Amino acid sequence: PRRIIIDTDPGQDDAFAILLALGSPEELEVVGVSTVAGNVPLERTTLNAQMVLELAGRADIPVYPGCRRPMVRPLFTAEYVHGDSGLDGCDLPPPSAPLGAKHGVDFIIDTVMAADPGTITVCTLGPMTNLAMAIVKEPAIVARIREVVLMGGGFFEGGNTTPAAEFNIFVDPHAAHVVFSSGVPLTMVPIDCTYKAVMTPDWLRRLRAVGTETAVQAAGMAEFYQRYGNQKFGTDSYPLHDPCVMGFLLRPDLFQGRDCHVDIEIVSPVTTGMTVVDWWGVTKKPANCLVLRDLDNPAFYDLMLERLSRLP
Ligand code: BDR
Ligand code: CA
Repeated sequence: PRRIIIDTDPGQDDAFAILLALGSPEELEVVGVSTVAGNVPLERTTLNAQMVLELAGRADIPVYPGCRRPMVRPLFTAEYVHGDSGLDGCDLPPPSAPLGAKHGVDFIIDTVMAADPGTITVCTLGPMTNLAMAIVKEPAIVARIREVVLMGGGFFEGGNTTPAAEFNIFVDPHAAHVVFSSGVPLTMVPIDCTYKAVMTPDWLRRLRAVGTETAVQAAGMAEFYQRYGNQKFGTDSYPLHDPCVMGFLLRPDLFQGRDCHVDIEIVSPVTTGMTVVDWWGVTKKPANCLVLRDLDNPAFYDLMLERLSRLP
């Protein structure tokens, strides 16, 4: 299986991403989870990550707390989407395992440096602070990482946090800038793609009907999270962003995109955190990122249901 680090700020959709990876052990081996401040502060994202692993019976996977705040800007959180806990809507078991005994940034560095070159994939599901700090602290990781697959950004869709910026990039645009200008192989799953991953009420019913503890708790979180979608779009369905990252690793054939040059805006007060995607190649700058724009929604949700059903 492909060895992955999950860097995350759970978040209901982060939880689905973690569960999708854990339900796919033949394809993905989760070597560890690093947490970051994002949807909610670090203490909560860390506890949430531990509880999701516990729910899935995988408390053996270590969780390493990472950065408490973005590199330059103050922390901006999203309780208005995820609830005060970051994981409202479920009731998860308390962690039984202690936290990993190093900082999340050092976990990323040490794992990448100890593994054979080109074997570790880093999945970032929140602000990219930990990965950027790891690159700043040990630039040699850039040439050794197999690939970074990130949920973040938006271009034709604009932003979901400001008119120009998507949440993960908006919260730490400087970190995104470090990563995007580093030369590390990148695949970006922006909201242009994830907005096509809407979860329907019918799918939610099917998930609940699976009846396992993981499925029931996941359905609870999805229901809570869906409410925000109802308010925002006036629809009964809302996208699960972060599991698209794992979906791409499992079934790249379900996704469509293009190699593009992507710049991160870090200067303008109006468009800070904007991902400027050269979709049409007008700058002639070499591509630094595979940018996904489309996915096969029914096949993606079938996959997610099948994989989540395997968990206890
Ligand atoms: C991203 O922001 C967070 O609220 C979600 O967990 C996801 O990572 C979507 O913009
Ligand atoms: Ca997230």
